[in-house]
Amino acid sequence: MDYSALIQFRKSVRAFQDKAVPDAVKQELAAYFREGCKRLLPELKTELRFFEKDTQSVLEGAAGYQEFLIGAPCYLVILSEAAEHAGENAGYMGEDLVLKLSDMGLDSCWLTFTDEAKVREALGLDTPLQVAGVLAFGYGKKMPKKIRLNILSMSNVNAAAVRQYYAPKVSLYDMVFADRWGCGDGVDSLIGDMDSMLWRAFYAASLAPSYMNRQPYGFILHGSDVVLVRKPDAYTDDIDARLNLGIVLLHFSAVASQLLGKLKWEMGGSDEGLELPAGYSVSARCRIG
Ligand SMILES: Cc1cc2nc3c(=O)[nH]c(=O)nc-3n(C[C@H](O)[C@H](O)[C@H](O)COP(=O)(O)O)c2cc1C
Repeated sequence: MDYSALIQFRKSVRAFQDKAVPDAVKQELAAYFREGCKRLLPELKTELRFFEKDTQSVLEGAAGYQEFLIGAPCYLVILSEAAEHAGENAGYMGEDLVLKLSDMGLDSCWLTFTDEAKVREALGLDTPLQVAGVLAFGYGKKMPKKIRLNILSMSNVNAAAVRQYYAPKVSLYDMVFADRWGCGDGVDSLIGDMDSMLWRAFYAASLAPSYMNRQPYGFILHGSDVVLVRKPDAYTDDIDARLNLGIVLLHFSAVASQLLGKLKWEMGGSDEGLELPAGYSVSARCRIG
């Protein structure tokens, strides 16, 4: 897959055509999940399940912004064994599926949930694995005006038809720092320009979808390491925060690995020398030098 292009093209789609997703598409996605899907923690046992259109009423109240569930012809659920970083792994795998779906001409949207047991019960799942990620997918409606998430305030969110297409994102230079948190000096010379793979990888990271488009994270180039930092965010709970972190790591890694080969992320770790503000923490670290 051409990850750079797919990442620039991707957007969350919330209005779908009334067109079923063919079984062949689901089979291709299931095979990709088993054999090709990028994994942050390959040792974790995971499973992919599909649910049909009628699942919307079942999931209503258990998933989605303010319990408003996007109507879609299909939903996918990532199940995972319980583990400390299962959420990040589900975000990483789920976002690879999002980009695979884009590559296959389908559209999708992540769905939030706060109560894992409630979703599991609503879906009637009988498994020792836990619900780790939920997405709606199908063929997006072709509209002259595009549906965009309208965040009026944190308690007033709706999907409105407006002319803008993309949810605005934090600039790469407000997200990537050199040596310590908040330090922009030297970032240019470290990451180069648009022709450099590292620049493109960070640009891809800056385009990652996040809960409510909050993007509560940033990167520090520290010696020969890239460090992903989690920012505290009053609106983002731990489930969404971990999914966000896995998603942004997938965006970065999928592009960077074209030059650097497979990246090995170590989760967590010390924040020594990074001068993180109170409440910030190291999410993951990877050697690139
Ligand atoms: C963990 C997570 C949960 C999300 N939950 C929802 C949701 O329940 N409903 C929704 O409409 N969008 C949801 N989104 C989509 C975000 O609102 C969207 O990614 C963000 O507004 C940026 O827009 P973009 O994806 O088009 O770049 C979620 C995204 C993430 C990463």
